Parts: sequence; structure tokens; C-alpha cells
Amino acid sequence: MALPTISGRVVLGIETSCDETAAALVRDDRTVLAAPLVSQLAEHAPYGGIVPEIAARAHLERLDRLIARALEEAGLGLADLAGIAVTAGPGLIGGLTVGVVTAQMLALVHRRPLFAINHLEAHALTARLTHGLDFPYLVLLVSGGHAQLQLVHGVGRYERLGTTLDDAVGEAFDKLAKMLGLGYPGGPRIEAAARGGDPSRFPLPRPMLGEPHCNFSFSGLKTAARLRILELGPAVLEPANLADLCASFEQAVTDVLVDRTRRALERARERLGVRPPLVLAGGVAANRRIGTALRALAEEEGVAVAIPPPALCTDNGTIVAWAGIERLELGLVDPLAIEARARWPLDPTAEPVLGAGTKGPKA
Ligand code: KG4
Ligand code: ZN
Repeated sequence: MALPTISGRVVLGIETSCDETAAALVRDDRTVLAAPLVSQLAEHAPYGGIVPEIAARAHLERLDRLIARALEEAGLGLADLAGIAVTAGPGLIGGLTVGVVTAQMLALVHRRPLFAINHLEAHALTARLTHGLDFPYLVLLVSGGHAQLQLVHGVGRYERLGTTLDDAVGEAFDKLAKMLGLGYPGGPRIEAAARGGDPSRFPLPRPMLGEPHCNFSFSGLKTAARLRILELGPAVLEPANLADLCASFEQAVTDVLVDRTRRALERARERLGVRPPLVLAGGVAANRRIGTALRALAEEEGVAVAIPPPALCTDNGTIVAWAGIERLELGLVDPLAIEARARWPLDPTAEPVLGAGTKGPKA
């Protein structure tokens, strides 16, 4: 599908699905005019994870001001906008509702088109903003809430090739960090602690490696890491032990992601006749060991690879605004009566996997 060509239209993107409050103004020539963002890390840090009620309240307190700041930075008024895009799911329902109600009100008062954006779609389309990538491509979406391999055929046209049966990738990093007392979010801290460590010192399991499907599982790996921590006792915090354990964990996750992605590229080739380009998206895409390994895989398989910059891999308003621009281009405007959705799978035809449900993966 051709990339959007008309220039000059600006869309406001609103993101409140998790612990980042963000608003962004993006023009359809890919210019980011403003992208203020406030992270709630400090508020949630004492609890070692995100507390939904604290998140919703913080979004409520900040969102209006952030939108005003974005417009001020860009020198625009609401009447100048071509549309308002808001993350409507999946995510924490309280935060999502704050974003959705705010967007509805602005769209109603200023008579602007409204776009209900699937947060996963915002991540999945980012490479079209950053790399001008054409459809189709394979996206490995790895974040605090997800581990998915989606074949992206077009805007709103996704084919899920694989998903996690239990924990999301970022969640596994966060849980290990919590066990080690490294704090939240765990991914960057595990990565920092792993620096210089020996990734082969602790043999940890690689769940699903070599299996014919493209699904993931991370809970066994997490349990195995916990057992190593218990065996080591307080010595686990000695710098050399900590570095080796974190490096071993990171390597196990990396090996699983590479193996599953290789399998999905093969699946995609069966569908499309060729292996499509590979895109890495979501917060975990910021991890260097994982990025390097996936670049090597892409080279081996002879496919192009696109990894957006870290600030566009973690949650932000820019990718929501961009998804709005893609939808504006196709005339996919939503009615005003949209609703926040805690769960919202990208590919509604995909079969539920083992472990799905209230305790299962989020989509
Ligand atoms: O996409 P994101 O900002 O929010 C969600 O939609 O979940 O992803 C946040 C997740 C957290 O679990 C965090 O620990 C993980 O991404 N993460 C990382 C790294 N940076 C963030 N995981 C591994 N290595 C990193 N460098
Ligand atoms: Zn996200």
C-alpha cells in the first residue's frame, strides 16, 4: 500500500494506556511538531510495579495540561487539527478512559474526526513513520504487556503468527528485577547489571525453542532464574554473580526471541511467497543484546530490519498520532461513541492460546 503523500494535516495523539501520559502533534509529512510526555515512574516505584488507580489519577491530573503544552509548542489551536487520535485499548481501563473521554470531548466541541487507536497498532505502524516501510512486514512486538509476532498486511489488517502463553517479555524482565531488588522498570536495570557478565555461566531453559509453532512462554525461565537466586542466597548480589545471572537471563530471552522470529519469517514466507522485512517494536526493543541478535537474524535470512529509536519503542503519543494519520488517509474515522477496551486483540480471528483469560496474556 502506498504511503500517505498529502502534506499539511496535523493529528493530535493521546496516550494513557499504561504509566506514560503523552500527547503529540504529528503532521502527515512525518514531522513531529510536539511530543510532551510525563512518566509516572516515581509514583509507582515504591510498589515495584504499576498501580492502576495511581496511574488513572495521574493521567487525569496531567493530560489537559500536556495537550495544551503540545499545542502551544506547535503554535496551533484545536481548530487547526485534522483529527484526534486516542489509544482506546488494550491497557489499564482507568487510564484508557481518561484519554478516551478527553478525546471525545475535544472532538465533539471542536467538530474534529476521532480515531480510536489500538495501542498495539500504534507500535506496529511505528516503522512506517520512522523507516517509511511498506506493507507487508513482520513485527516482533515485545513490551511490558505483550510478546507477539504479527504479520502486518495493512492498516487494520493483522495476522497473528505467535503470542505468549504466559508472561510478556518485559514482564519477565520486570519480575526478575523485582526478585533481585533492582527496582522498576526491570528491563533497563537488568541490561545495565548484565554488562560484562558471562551469558553462559548459568544454564537457563529456552522455552519453546525449535517448536513448529511461533508462540512464546517465559514463566519457566523466570522460575528457573528464581531457583538460581535461591541457590546463591545473598551471594547473588556480588557484582560478578549478578552480572552473570542477568547476562544469562538476557541471553536465554534473546535466544527464544530469535528462534521464534526465525520460525515466523518462515511462516510469513509460506503466506507471502517471500520473507518480509522484520520490525522490532515495544519497550523491550530498546535492549541492545536483543536488537543486535535480531539484526544478525535478519542478515542471515536476507531480510531488511527496522528498529525504531528507543523513545518511539516505549509508550509515547507520537506513534498514536501517526496511527491516526494512517487512518485519516484511509478515511477510517470512528464514531464519537467509542469505548475504552482493556482487551483488544489486533487479529480478532486468531485462536485463543493456552493461558488466555483474565490471568493470561493481555491480547
Ligand atoms: O512498550 P512499553 O513502554 O510499555 C508497554 O506497552 O508495556 O514497554 C515497557 C517494558 C517494561 O517491561 C520494561 O522493563 C521493558 O519494556 N524494557 C526493557 C528495556 N527497556 C524497557 N526490557 C529489556 N531491556 C531494555 N533495555
Ligand atoms: Zn506499549
